[in-house]
Amino acid sequence: MTATILDGKKIAADILNELVDEVADFIQNNGTAPTLAAVLVGEDPASEVYVRNKRKACEQVGIDSRLLRLPATASTDDLLELVAKLNKDHEVHGILVQLPLPDGIDSKRILDAISPWKDVDVFHPENVGRLCQDRPRMLPCTPHGVLQILDRYRIPVQGKHVVIVGRSDIVGKPLAMLMMQRHSPLGSQAANATVTVCHSHTPDLMVHTRGADILVAAIGKPKYITAQMVKPGTVVVDVGINRTEAGIVGDVDFDQVREIASAITPVPGGVGRLTVAMLMRNTLLAAQNQL
Ligand code: GUN
Repeated sequence: MTATILDGKKIAADILNELVDEVADFIQNNGTAPTLAAVLVGEDPASEVYVRNKRKACEQVGIDSRLLRLPATASTDDLLELVAKLNKDHEVHGILVQLPLPDGIDSKRILDAISPWKDVDVFHPENVGRLCQDRPRMLPCTPHGVLQILDRYRIPVQGKHVVIVGRSDIVGKPLAMLMMQRHSPLGSQAANATVTVCHSHTPDLMVHTRGADILVAAIGKPKYITAQMVKPGTVVVDVGINRTEAGIVGDVDFDQVREIASAITPVPGGVGRLTVAMLMRNTLLAAQNQL
């Protein structure tokens, strides 16, 4: 079997196209554009690329974006001051502090300081709690992107066994919550999946990964998921973005696994594109929520 390639680039482009009209409606009804403030501290090259892509997407859909830069030498207090200013600014609807922050900055304190109404990443503990209770204001961008890919390729999730490798706060944990949800918040499918979360201390990882109907790799290790870890016919979603000497690769050994899976997301051109598209949706939602 050779897998269907789940084209994140196309799905993201479709979502951005849908947003163009919705953003135009918002502007017409409210006389102001949804506005995203991106905060970039230091000069991490990968973060520069991510923020550039996010601002490009803003431009494409009609969202205003502001870029606020602080030097790598900035203190936690400097950043807290900037976040407080953005929280108070009624013209700013979404705030994104690009991670990772330089050593010495207390990331948790910064993320906790962002107004939950403007928290388009869904990192604030109040929003994470709301997600756990099945009443989110917005959905976390990358996990929502995973659901959107499955949804739009008509891959059912209900009743399936979803195995997530990785327990990060950004992907693994919130994705597990979304996959378990019983309702259908904010237009995504009610997932109702059975979820297993594996991590670096899971013994016999292969026993779990081979039990998956849908396998999500979000572990941050290049080509970690090999063909022998995948049951024939599994849907494989690769959330990894690893910079190697051979270029950007995912957490899945794509060339091997595509011969076994029924469907697979490529890297690049897979989930990463969706993260940016869902950030745009969240910025519009945040603006609507603050009317
Ligand atoms: N760095 C890597 N992924 C993300 C993300 O989703 N949001 C933010 N703010 N920073 C990141």
